[in-house]
Amino acid sequence: MQDQNLKNVTETAVNLLSKSPNPRLNEIMAKLIQHLHTFASEVKLTEDEWMKGLEFLAAVGKIGLSEFIMLSDAIGLSKVVNIMNHPPLEGITESNFTGPYYRDEAPLLTSPFKIYSGCEEEGEQVLFSGQVMAPEGKPIAGALIELWQTAPNGLYDCVDDTQPDYNFRGQLYTDEQGRYQFQTLKPANYRFPSAGPVGQMLVALDRHTWHAAHIHFKVSADGYEHLVTQLFFKGDPYIKSDVVFAVRESLIINLQKHDSPEEAAQHNVKNPFHTAHYDFVLKPKC
Ligand SMILES: [Fe+2]
Repeated sequence: MQDQNLKNVTETAVNLLSKSPNPRLNEIMAKLIQHLHTFASEVKLTEDEWMKGLEFLAAVGKIGLSEFIMLSDAIGLSKVVNIMNHPPLEGITESNFTGPYYRDEAPLLTSPFKIYSGCEEEGEQVLFSGQVMAPEGKPIAGALIELWQTAPNGLYDCVDDTQPDYNFRGQLYTDEQGRYQFQTLKPANYRFPSAGPVGQMLVALDRHTWHAAHIHFKVSADGYEHLVTQLFFKGDPYIKSDVVFAVRESLIINLQKHDSPEEAAQHNVKNPFHTAHYDFVLKPKC
């Protein structure tokens, strides 16, 4: 067996992959090995640092997939993968990554499409509406919209025992004109949990852990590519320094404040209230 040294260990490790029957896996693993070896060499990684790194990954794994997604989000990897796979296209709603808090099988909403229960004293009511359409403006009837957001306390239902299951989540279909509407409370900007390994990493790096307030959307319709995105609110203090680099200019919307008891009564909401509007434009499948 050949003695290993810094120069040939990478080549030997990569060559061992050639027996694998999966060429794509070979390609990914070969590049991963090459880049990790180069990284260790370039920073002159000590054994203590190597072990601390492994312990960090073990702590992330102990929490599970959601913490790994947070890690990927926090170092910008999620954004790189998202932009590569969904490059911005003129006239099509920009994509954004899913984040760690998506849950499938959210309740199917019916009129008046209210996505929450309780919390009304804590939050500002928002009547959200818009349309799903094709690039040429043709409305898409029967498009499925899944949406999820935090409560006004900045927590998702799955990490907050005080909220009912599936609170601030829902699914709805667009009507014959591709229109949708739902009633919610304004989500809050929120912090990554600082007790977890990713939060501690950000603190050690002297980075803040705030995520600009947002609502997640997943829009699906026959003949069109799935759209996963997030909408943000103009004026949020973390728009420019979002912890996961998620904010895109085209995905920032205005919240319009209405201070009219008559209008509020008409919509069966508290006064004052807000309205928001966004039209999703889907990319046709090739
Ligand atoms: Fe989120």
